[in-house]
Amino acid sequence: MDVYSPAEAAAKIIKSRGLDREIEVAFVLGTGLGSLAEALENPIIIPFSDLPGFPKANVSGHIGQIAIGMQEGTCIAYLQGRSHYYETGDATTMRVPLETLVALGAHTLVLTNAAGSCNKDIYPGCLATITDHINFSGRNPLLGLGGEPNFMSMVDAYEPRLIKRMKRAALNAGINLPEAIYMWFSGPTFETPAEVRMAKTLGADLVGMSTVPEVILARTLGLRVAALSIVTNFAAGFSNGNPTHTGSKDMALQGSVALKRLIRAFLKTKEEAWGIRQVTISS
Ligand code: HPA
Repeated sequence: MDVYSPAEAAAKIIKSRGLDREIEVAFVLGTGLGSLAEALENPIIIPFSDLPGFPKANVSGHIGQIAIGMQEGTCIAYLQGRSHYYETGDATTMRVPLETLVALGAHTLVLTNAAGSCNKDIYPGCLATITDHINFSGRNPLLGLGGEPNFMSMVDAYEPRLIKRMKRAALNAGINLPEAIYMWFSGPTFETPAEVRMAKTLGADLVGMSTVPEVILARTLGLRVAALSIVTNFAAGFSNGNPTHTGSKDMALQGSVALKRLIRAFLKTKEEAWGIRQVTISS
């Protein structure tokens, strides 16, 4: 009997539902952004619950399914919803979905999130492209894997060529796209005003509860990574910010219109030929 890893088994199921070509670019859709997948032509849609090792999407604003299809002549996968560290206490919660995307050919990953801002120039309603992060959670998805640790460089974790391409796409679409440093807090509480003052002092522009563990896992898997934020609010205490989940979802929904345009423009801008560097994470 063949023994498959959860990602291999999930990839087999996805192929058996009609995927007959390689995925090129994958998107993880953050809070309130699930509708971006509506841009796909004749998508194959599979609930996470049908795929081994995929997380349960428990948080409102996250649909919990994968949609795969063509957009702008490119084979795209949208993960409509993610699981967060704060739901499971497990920073590897998105490992199997990312491994599955790699098994299906994906070479580029665009992560999206809703974030709070502590930079007055990146205000609610803005999109931003993340250029670097500060991992303030104290967690790392590679912790405790055993074996020889992977002392992976995090220089250029957000691929500079993808950032450039994203900014070119924003220009073409007439969208303002500032660069931002994102600080990862574990959640699930929003930050305190004192924490937000600290984040700003340490060089963060945005704060949020996702994305960073996925970037670390994705880089380890050899994926090229870009990450986009929708700024849904000023962070706690900054410019009177006092975030709520409902407010974040509403603002994300509004911002998703511009994000849809940005993604279309991104897919239309020419890709340089990437080599695929694939490394497996030992467990
Ligand atoms: N903090 C953390 N996560 C968030 C915020 C915030 O202010 N807004 C949206 N997601």
